[in-house]
Formats: sequence, C-alpha cells, structure tokens
Amino acid sequence: MKKDIETREELEEFLRAFYKKAFADELIGHFFTKVVPLDLKTHIPVIASFWESVVFNTHGYRKNVMEVHKHIHHLSKIKKEHLDRWVKIFTETLDEEFEGYHTELMKQRARSIATLMDIKLNHEGIAKA
Ligand code: HEM
Repeated sequence: MKKDIETREELEEFLRAFYKKAFADELIGHFFTKVVPLDLKTHIPVIASFWESVVFNTHGYRKNVMEVHKHIHHLSKIKKEHLDRWVKIFTETLDEEFEGYHTELMKQRARSIATLMDIKLNHEGIAKA
C-alpha cells in the first residue's frame, strides 16, 4: 500500500526520482543539463528544504523561487509547455510511490506555483502594459 510523505528522507527520495525523470525528459531536460547544469548532491538538500517549508511549515528555505526562475528564463525561455511538463512529471512521480494529505498538498502547490510562474515569466509584461 502507498503511504504519505512524512519525513525529510522521503522528500529527498521523491526528489531524486523526480529529477532523474526531469533530467531525461526531451522537453525540459536541457534546463537541468545544459542551461543551469545541476549538481543533484547540492541541489536536492536545497529543494528539499523548500518542500519541507511547504509541507511541514518549517522555515529552512529563505530564497525567492520566482527570482531564481526569472534568471533561468533569461538564459532560456521557460514556456507554459515546459511548466506543464514539469508539473506532469512531478505529479506522476509522486503518485507512483505516495498518497495522502501531504502528497495532495505538494501536487496542489506545484500546480499553483507553476501557474504563477507562467504569469510572472510570460504574461507580466502584458499585464503591466
Ligand atoms: C519548466 C519548469 C522548471 C524548470 C525548467 C526549472 C529549473 C530549475 C533550475 C535549472 C534550477 C536551478 C537554479 C540554480 O541553481 O541556479 C531550479 C531551482 C529550483 N526550482 Fe525549478 N524549475 C522549474 C519549475 C519549478 C517549479 C514549478 C517549482 C516549485 C513548485 C520549482 C522549484 C525550484 C526550487 C525550490 C529551486 C531551488 C532554488 C534555489 O536554489 O534556492 N521549480 N529550477
């Protein structure tokens, strides 16, 4: 039976599975391998702190996620199709191993942050005009 994400170790386990697929994906893999080559050994603890703050209300993550992705967007455009794929892989990877309240919360947050990212990166110019 599947269980919910309850610990930092489970978060990291999920994130390793997620990035393995994201790196290999033909639509978004290049962001992680070419645009900003990621060293997962250092990246997973940072991103786990972000998700820990979302799921368990901890305060270990202090950076502005939108600013990080604005920077990536300037190097190589993050379009809606990329964000949709990111959310699809994230959701499918979670569903493979986990279920429950925290799992649903993570899927919801991933979707809403990705929607906000699309607005900030691809539509803000229009909104301001
Ligand atoms: C197509 C969509 C996305 C791409 C291509 C992408 C790519 C990346 C890359 C390349 C980094 C590393 C940046 C660096 O070290 O300089 C990063 C960091 C990060 N991403 Fe994304 N990302 C995407 C969507 C998202 C979404 C939707 C979320 C949250 C729900 C998210 C959360 C994070 C976090 C928390 C970090 C760590 C930032 C830090 O270093 O503090 N990403 N992303």
